[in-house]
Amino acid sequence: MIVTTSLEPSAETTRHARELAARFNLTLVERKDYSLAELRKRFAESEVLIVSSKGARLEAVGKTAFFFHPNTAAFRIKRLERGDNDTMLTVCQIQPGDKVLDATMGLGADAIVFAHGVGETGRVVGVESERTIALLIEDGLAYWPAESQALREAMKRVEVRVGNHLDVLRSLPADSFDVVYFDPMFEETVNSSAGIAGIREWANNRSLEQAAVAEALRVAKRRVVLKEGKTGRLYQQFGFTPYRTRGNQVVYSYKEKGGGE
Ligand SMILES: C[S@@+](CC[C@H](N)C(=O)[O-])C[C@H]1O[C@@H](n2cnc3c(N)ncnc32)[C@H](O)[C@@H]1O
Repeated sequence: MIVTTSLEPSAETTRHARELAARFNLTLVERKDYSLAELRKRFAESEVLIVSSKGARLEAVGKTAFFFHPNTAAFRIKRLERGDNDTMLTVCQIQPGDKVLDATMGLGADAIVFAHGVGETGRVVGVESERTIALLIEDGLAYWPAESQALREAMKRVEVRVGNHLDVLRSLPADSFDVVYFDPMFEETVNSSAGIAGIREWANNRSLEQAAVAEALRVAKRRVVLKEGKTGRLYQQFGFTPYRTRGNQVVYSYKEKGGGE
């Protein structure tokens, strides 16, 4: 993968591209007036990360362009500011000051909503196994030009960790997070995170493992929460209690620390 800028970049875009390349140990290529196809040929690279004033966008041959967007987080935070509820926060019983481990960060929409819910005194760590996704989301969380102050502040509070959640969970002390949250990839195309289709080609599509659930129950002080498609049955497999709301395309389920419901 190489990093370059849009054509005629501003000084800020050039600085951003330089920082991104250094942060992820990638080669920075001056765009000059090369087309994307020319750059690919010249550097024998199919994956090009293009930085513009709108942030970073990954263009890979044969794949959908991939870029950060706050997706559902934008309107969910707006609704929360109006005093409405958010089902995910309700199922997780989120309070200001809570610590949440989002074990399947993906595009980060849920992590951003968690960060809003736990507030300044809380902590949200998003774990993502795929380096490319983690790279783009970490960068987007820092650079996406959100108009809403609440959204901007929540985005800045999400901490990104690259790694398989099983390894990360194993490295954590017992009871070190209030909630551990899983939203593994699922079959249906409809997902509450609109835009999830954009990461399908980059994502880890493996199902959730029993070992990860067991570790999550050790690390969580309060409960482990699982989100899946409305036809998903992982909650039965793992003995979680479903939390259903009418008309939802997703099913949340939870298991209390200590095995209760
Ligand atoms: C459905 S997406 C999560 C969407 C996310 N909740 C959001 O709001 O954008 C699932 C993500 O979890 C990642 N993933 C799957 N298995 C994982 C694992 N074992 N460890 C860490 N991340 C994993 C996938 O690569 C994918 O990015």
